[in-house]
Amino acid sequence: RQQRKFPDDFLFGTATASYQIEGAWNEDGKGENIWDYMTHNNPTVIKDVSNGDIAADSYHNYKRDVEIMRELSLDAYRFSLSWSRILPTGMANEVNPAGIEFYNNYINEMLKYNITPMITLYHWDLPQKLQELGGFANPYISDWYADYARVVFENFGDRVKHFITFNEPREICFQGYGSTTKAPILNSTAVGTYLCAKHLVIAHAKAYYVYDNEFRPTQGGQCGITISVNWFAPYTDSDEDHFATEIKRQSEWGLYAHPIFSSEGGFPKEFSQRIAEKSAQQGYAKSRLPEFTAEEKALVQGSSDFFGVNHYTGYLISATQNKVENPVPSMPDDVDAGTIVPEEWPKSASTWLTLAPNSILNALTDLKERYNNPIFYITENGWSTPPETGLDDDMRGTYYRTALESVLDTLDAGVNLKGYMAWSLIDNFEWMQGYAERFGLYSVDFEDPARTRTPRKSAFIYKHIVSNRFIDHTYEPESMT
Ligand code: FCB
Repeated sequence: RQQRKFPDDFLFGTATASYQIEGAWNEDGKGENIWDYMTHNNPTVIKDVSNGDIAADSYHNYKRDVEIMRELSLDAYRFSLSWSRILPTGMANEVNPAGIEFYNNYINEMLKYNITPMITLYHWDLPQKLQELGGFANPYISDWYADYARVVFENFGDRVKHFITFNEPREICFQGYGSTTKAPILNSTAVGTYLCAKHLVIAHAKAYYVYDNEFRPTQGGQCGITISVNWFAPYTDSDEDHFATEIKRQSEWGLYAHPIFSSEGGFPKEFSQRIAEKSAQQGYAKSRLPEFTAEEKALVQGSSDFFGVNHYTGYLISATQNKVENPVPSMPDDVDAGTIVPEEWPKSASTWLTLAPNSILNALTDLKERYNNPIFYITENGWSTPPETGLDDDMRGTYYRTALESVLDTLDAGVNLKGYMAWSLIDNFEWMQGYAERFGLYSVDFEDPARTRTPRKSAFIYKHIVSNRFIDHTYEPESMT
């Protein structure tokens, strides 16, 4: 195999999220968030009846986490801020100084070792007080969010130059408002998802302009959004399968990407039309999908300096086959189709995650064509193993090598891709799966009060790639056990 190199300025990092790693759920003035609330009041919704009260205790172990970043030779680290650690009630009139101090220490520790911090402002842990006011179903969320963003830019923007407003709108809106698979488990399928989608992209845009107008002139960084873009390909070459696949893409990620990145603006056409038709059939006078005013549409369009892509896997979509046994695991407005995952695609510990061939290249070249090749970062990509796998995680190493070959293909295809963040630095609280699925390059001993971190085999493989800037398929770390 010909040896291809990653560019010198390509950012290699790892990603985490506040609720999944920090713990210290009620320490030093932090307010309650929707994950605290849900796991405390409804504990059995989590597979192993666990929660993030302590998690990997990164609040107390952040120096060790930065040491791990150095052990991995990372250029960058993507992490999220806990909104309610900074603003306990969610509103900006009351700032918690201990929260600001914690993140300052964390950021300064990274900078000491030349690790570029990349901040996600919102990775799913809404202050509970704002949820009580309706959360993302309330249009005022965009003002509360813009005020929070201003506090973040004001306090950290002198040193942090990469901001991501939201992590994965689909998972926030569809899973949290339209189903019971993420907090706040509202299950308001056909309405909540779309109210959330509209208000969220407006919140993103308002925060973007807070940055652009008030902070960029002196701080000079970038502000973007991260959307989950898994790859959907037609099962056969039939027109029906192609159409079903397009609807699926629009419903999964186009709903959030189109308003921001397309030259047309607003929600994607075919999917909007589908919901309008369904709404009429259901006897509603107007579509359940809210509209943007001309002013809102213009505000949102073009409001991102880069497109952050969380990418894990791929699926084949069929308009005719497998409908009953294997319906698309998604909202009722989706195309009525089957999802097919070929037997030969390797399976992880997560039901939704297989190693789909070339899915990074396919997804990113599609986005490049659709949205005129903006700057991209892959802000998450990774593989889960069951806790029993321990440290000899050969399949995770294989996954990263395969994914990064696809990244090299993507660069060869002229996609404006600037960096790659592996999910995740360390094992953490995997949402509804609790600690039953592990994504870490480092394992965390959750039985041990010190939450000791130990590198897995894949950590050495990733480090080898990051520090040499090419993929050496012959390098084989020794067994760790
Ligand atoms: C993504 C989330 C991240 C993590 C991975 C496995 O959807 O953004 O927090 O749970 O999946």
